[in-house]
Amino acid sequence: MKKSVLSITPSVHKSTIAPEIYGQFSEHLGRCIYDGVYVGEDSDIPNTNGMRNDVVEALREIKLPVLRWPGGCYADEYHWKDGIGPKESRRKMVNTNWGGTVEDNSFGTHEFMELCEQIGCEPYIAVNMGSGTVQEAAEWVEYMTAESGSTFAELRAANGHAEPWKVKYLGIGNESWGCGGSMDADFYANEYKRYQQFCKEYSGNKLYKVACGPSGDDYAWTRELMSRINHQHAKGISLHYYTVPGDWEHKGSATDFTEQEYYTTIAKTLGIEEVIDGHLKIMDELDPEHNIDLIIDEWGTWYDVEPGTNPGFLYQQNTMRDAIVAALNLNIFNKHSDMISMANIAQVVNVLQAMVLTEGDQIVKTPTYDVFAMYKEHQGASLVQSAVDTLPVDHDGKVIPSLSESVSVSDDGNMTITLANTSLKEEIQVICRLEDKSQFNGQAEIAVLQDEVHAHNTFEQPDQVKVQYRTEHWNGSEQTVTLLPCSVCRIHCPIV
Ligand code: AHR
Repeated sequence: MKKSVLSITPSVHKSTIAPEIYGQFSEHLGRCIYDGVYVGEDSDIPNTNGMRNDVVEALREIKLPVLRWPGGCYADEYHWKDGIGPKESRRKMVNTNWGGTVEDNSFGTHEFMELCEQIGCEPYIAVNMGSGTVQEAAEWVEYMTAESGSTFAELRAANGHAEPWKVKYLGIGNESWGCGGSMDADFYANEYKRYQQFCKEYSGNKLYKVACGPSGDDYAWTRELMSRINHQHAKGISLHYYTVPGDWEHKGSATDFTEQEYYTTIAKTLGIEEVIDGHLKIMDELDPEHNIDLIIDEWGTWYDVEPGTNPGFLYQQNTMRDAIVAALNLNIFNKHSDMISMANIAQVVNVLQAMVLTEGDQIVKTPTYDVFAMYKEHQGASLVQSAVDTLPVDHDGKVIPSLSESVSVSDDGNMTITLANTSLKEEIQVICRLEDKSQFNGQAEIAVLQDEVHAHNTFEQPDQVKVQYRTEHWNGSEQTVTLLPCSVCRIHCPIV
């Protein structure tokens, strides 16, 4: 068995882990919105004002902090006025990005805000900059956030919501270098500045504006954007980074993969850290006071769709491999929480690396969901100094760390340690050592997610992969935990 020491210095607080790092993304894509979160008031599926009760409850359980909507590529062809007012008279449009389905706009602004209220999360609105206008964007912000009096506030009231909503997060343009308009960075930056200027703060509502940042390692985009905007224009720039095991033509199966494909997936996932560091270096150079944050508003695995499903719906299964991917990403985001203020996994239901899958009135929670449930205590806690020997191993020419970790302490004096063992064969004994005068002091709640790497939950066997919980008494400055192969572990323990 391999051994590693996890050195923790609880007195060294590095940064606050923004709850929004545990955010999600919902797009009008496949069965994410319709069937996924929204079934309509008349559905036989138990719902509250059209929102599926089972899905809302599942998302409340993981303390979902923020939800991005309506896209994605869809955002840049979305015209918000099509999605308000009586449903029977809402404009129907073809969803050209995703399967050419007819979108009846029955889920619009009011429905999205209702969903966020039921979940208890912040809305993150993605404004159409690709096929929209500055006026349309400005009027949407007014419609959502202005108090009574203006024509748009009165229209909102006439549509059933007299009170303005609070909208903090506002993204302007999605993948503007690609599906959002194929723009060059200098053109985008100038357009962005014009759009953001007219998105006003009404009635005490404070906007946190997010500019479209790079794809993957496109450092040139970041440099150009950052040299043209400042913190008066944007509080954050976005990064999109997907884990695609193969190439875009042959991404690979979600459930049927070799050991080599598994380690490639892990290596590609870990590649995000170098990309984050690369962008942060440029941001640091051009914004040395760190007034602009990095927001990873799309991340996760992207495989070939499940056989027999619509290729435009991006429906994929979710195995223990995805759990490991989620654990690695979240540990990396925690460790960069001084500069990363939000992250949104793609996507919340039935699309890509989803939390839950639905079929009729059935729901299945995925292994990725379990990781979000296990990690939720990190939300809002202080990241503390920690380091570990990551035990790198060579897999077919790729050097891959076996061990990943992050550690936080919350205001109530509880420490949360999250660990992932990427190895498919070897156990790792981890000695958790407190390096200052702190001591473990009480019941440690230990949650473990472990299974064979292909294991996943289905509608027939929804509990195939399941978190196992146990408690142990932890005291003193050193405790040991053994990580089984292909596992994620969370320890939650009081310290003094
Ligand atoms: O999440 C699916 C798509 O991936 C989004 O619509 C787009 O922004 C990205 O390319």
